[in-house]
Amino acid sequence: MPKSSQLSGFYKLSPKQRLALIKECADLTEEEANLLQNTGPLPLEAADRMVENVIGAIPIPLGIAVNFLINNKDYLIPMAIEEPSVIAAASYAAKMTRDGGGIHTTSTSPVMIGQIQAINIKDPYSARMQILLAKDEILKTANEQDPVLVKAGGGAVDVDAKVIHTTQGSMLITELYVDCQDAMGANAVNTMNEAVAPLIERITNGQVLLRIISNLATKRLARASCIVPKQSVGGEQVVDGIVNASAFAAADPYRAATHNKGIMNGTIAVVLATGNDHRAIEAGAHSYAARTGHYTSLSTWEKNKNGDLVGTLELPMAVGLIGGAVRTHPTARLAVKILGVKTANELAEVCTAVGLAQNLGALRALAHEGIQRGHMALHARNIAITAGAIDEQIETIAAKMVEERKIRVDRAKELLDKYKTTGKI
Ligand code: MEV
Repeated sequence: MPKSSQLSGFYKLSPKQRLALIKECADLTEEEANLLQNTGPLPLEAADRMVENVIGAIPIPLGIAVNFLINNKDYLIPMAIEEPSVIAAASYAAKMTRDGGGIHTTSTSPVMIGQIQAINIKDPYSARMQILLAKDEILKTANEQDPVLVKAGGGAVDVDAKVIHTTQGSMLITELYVDCQDAMGANAVNTMNEAVAPLIERITNGQVLLRIISNLATKRLARASCIVPKQSVGGEQVVDGIVNASAFAAADPYRAATHNKGIMNGTIAVVLATGNDHRAIEAGAHSYAARTGHYTSLSTWEKNKNGDLVGTLELPMAVGLIGGAVRTHPTARLAVKILGVKTANELAEVCTAVGLAQNLGALRALAHEGIQRGHMALHARNIAITAGAIDEQIETIAAKMVEERKIRVDRAKELLDKYKTTGKI
């Protein structure tokens, strides 16, 4: 059968009808198709209301990181992630931070920035001044769009404008600052942006093009810090190793990318578990890491005069507790319940604290015994499963491969054959 990706009217079908079509196009068996429809706690109809062209759902493991003490409060941290070792490392690192009193966090008001791009302006600097002078009118128009947010204590709070020079000439960018309270804010900000656009055109005599939120949320920051006693981290040598690892990441973008990826392992797992927009957080984090023009590490690790380790992490953190999948995904709602956070700011601070602990876990392993030892046990289990091992065979074969330091599917298959025929390896 010729296979085409042009499936006219696909979006109009029900999820079951779509799956039937995909089953045919991709030669799926009955069993495979059933697997896709087994959407667990997220009913197919709910998934269909969340995004387009739904045929199923993909479960990601949800684990709980333990030992977290943040601002003297205990938290059980739900983490959604497919990578082995991350949750174990977060729990282990949280235990180390606990010895020094836990992690302490702060955050700014939940202010997001909306951008309105205006082009073809004769005198952009003069137009900029006109925008600043019209601040009250712009804020009033913006706030008329969202009386609920305003009533909750949020809404558009400030206006700024900047002239930028591009390959297409000068442009005037108006920035609307919106306090989003417990929402992530993209909808509120984009609606306000669109509503004030005609006003911007009238004031500047220019043409408005883009009207969209910025994910570089520099007005919505969360900061986490901790002091880890040197004995908890493994001694002064390990402290020095971590400080040197931090200096490496600060100076070299190739290392900074991986260092920051390690932070995101923790932060994004919480963001995803709570149904928030993890792409927005990643975009914000990496652009924040490059805000000086030089991509660098998001965290710093130093040694204090006692020889203890002091870590800090600051991130733009646009997460919410209302709107989007946070409310519509049943598992996300439960994750929020387990976490016990009451405000978006509290969630933002927890996500940052987990990023800091995750970073500590990775750097400690890297600066001490290397990352592979911890990784390998779980990796070996996955390889054993790939080779066809089931039940107790998995552990037996994984343990043997780790012992031999030969973690490969071909070796797992050999061991499995031997185990099946002789009952031992
Ligand atoms: C792996 O997912 C994350 C690490 O590479 C982070 C790091 O290198 O800091 C271990």
